[in-house]
Amino acid sequence: MLQLTDPAALREFVKSQKRLGKSVGFVPTMGYLHKGHASLFKKAAETSDVVVASVFVNPTQFGEKKDDYDNYPKDSQGDARLAESCGVNVLFLPKVETIYPNGQQVTVKVNEKTGVLCGKSRPGHFDGVATVLTKLFTIVAPDIVYFGMKDAQQVAIVRSLIDSFHFPIKLIACPIMREADGLAKSSRNVRLLPDERREAPELYKGLQAGCSAIRNGERNFDRIIASVRRYYELHLQSGVVDYVDVLNYPELKRVKDKMTGRIIIAIAVRYANARLIDNVTIDCG
Ligand code: PAJ
Repeated sequence: MLQLTDPAALREFVKSQKRLGKSVGFVPTMGYLHKGHASLFKKAAETSDVVVASVFVNPTQFGEKKDDYDNYPKDSQGDARLAESCGVNVLFLPKVETIYPNGQQVTVKVNEKTGVLCGKSRPGHFDGVATVLTKLFTIVAPDIVYFGMKDAQQVAIVRSLIDSFHFPIKLIACPIMREADGLAKSSRNVRLLPDERREAPELYKGLQAGCSAIRNGERNFDRIIASVRRYYELHLQSGVVDYVDVLNYPELKRVKDKMTGRIIIAIAVRYANARLIDNVTIDCG
């Protein structure tokens, strides 16, 4: 596996592969890689001839939370080992000064789908994500990009970004990888205190309670939200609910009063040193 820090070298490599007629897949990450990331690498290795992955902790998507950025977990050796074992051909590890020469001279602003879920609780977050991805997509020039449904709002917004800027890129959304007890794998799980870690599987169980309500015929958005909230009131002691929402997906709004089509139930819960997100999508006919 090649490890590159220079955009020009990466661009040359990608060009050479494309001249050979090879398709290029790209998986952007912020590192501290786990089995969730691994599933994207494996999907990329199955469906693209050459796999590029990036590890870049993007300062512009952390908002005012300097602490979260400064303390973002890192493990460069572990990351390289995992990426290589999953079939990544090139690991791109740019420096902040390379991605943001002279600071933030030009940024991307996302105007839709940001007023709900994580966009609402983290103002500016998706502008930072869209800005860094615009840069990375331009540097890497991939044919296919791979994103996890763990960050379902990110997937919806990246689709809008690709459409709006006419990137000739296909997006493949990959399912959420979970621990055996149901907790969605996340780089932030290491920050949970022991009691919090024991409680955290309840987050997914609350989502399943919402799904059961839909399967049992409930079609009222507010009542489904209430059933998930009620589950958390009964089962969470340390976690503080940031949001619970039920929306059409990928529109991220209530398309009609009557619930039809694909629905997302999404939640965020704050613990002492970590904010966890999770979601399920379900087709309700
Ligand atoms: P990061 O949080 O490192 O996630 C990188 C990719 O891995 C995202 O597409 C995310 O949805 C996916 N992922 C994380 N946990 C997962 C899980 N348990 N199952 C499946 N996929 C999972 O998302 C980012 O980085 C950044 O915002 C980025 C896109 C790199 C832009 O900076």
